Amino acid sequence: MAPIIRPFHPSDLPGIYRLCLRTGEAGGDATALYRDPDLLAHLYAGPYPVADPTLTFVVADDDGVVGYIVATADTIAFEAWLEESWFPVLRAQHPRRPDPHDGTQDHVLVERIHDWPGGPTREVHERFPAHMHIDLDPRLQGQGWGTRLVHTLADALRARGVTGLHLGVDDRNAGAITFYGKLGFELHERHDWGRTLTLAL
Ligand SMILES: CC(C)(COP(=O)(O)OP(=O)(O)OC[C@H]1O[C@@H](n2cnc3c(N)ncnc32)[C@H](O)[C@@H]1OP(=O)(O)O)[C@@H](O)C(=O)NCCC(=O)NCCS
Repeated sequence: MAPIIRPFHPSDLPGIYRLCLRTGEAGGDATALYRDPDLLAHLYAGPYPVADPTLTFVVADDDGVVGYIVATADTIAFEAWLEESWFPVLRAQHPRRPDPHDGTQDHVLVERIHDWPGGPTREVHERFPAHMHIDLDPRLQGQGWGTRLVHTLADALRARGVTGLHLGVDDRNAGAITFYGKLGFELHERHDWGRTLTLAL
């Protein structure tokens, strides 16, 4: 089956989790960084389709999920939902732990589960309330699928009257920064971890 873009189905979750890990280190494979292969997606992929399945789209082919875009229309409301419905079980499941000093980074993500760094500024949220994450299997990169996924999401957001979209990108991920620039995203703010980009819809 040739790749297609379709709306999220719950059976896509394991594939989304695997792809999140394979592309989770500034666009490269994060597998070696985590003993628990699910932690990264617990933060940056899984909660979005659970909170609102209508704003996740996948690229699927014979191998299953080979690309996805996950999003929320209202980041502040989404963060309230995380506190209420997503983090409590994860906090009980993953107690804070010290750095084992073996190069693995699970403790960093566990810390974020307990102490989520917080969302956009009021100004970003007013103008660009939605936010998203996108990942494609390396086999599908550079063939327009990322562009098509962003356009699919943008159409869905516009249909709901959402006026803008923001995202965070690691400064080391030069390829993604170029990609977002070509799609019209603009630099909004620099941080010590990277930058916030915005797109008016
Ligand atoms: C970043 C990513 C989503 C882009 O999707 P894609 O399908 O590969 O990109 P497209 O083929 O739609 O490219 C659109 C444009 O961006 C450019 N572009 C995309 N990836 C690029 C890269 N790595 N380096 C330079 N330019 C790039 C393309 O050349 C194209 O430019 P053009 O319009 O002038 O032809 C995808 O490569 C990916 O999943 N990367 C790994 C995970 C990742 O980094 N996710 C984002 C985390 S913030």
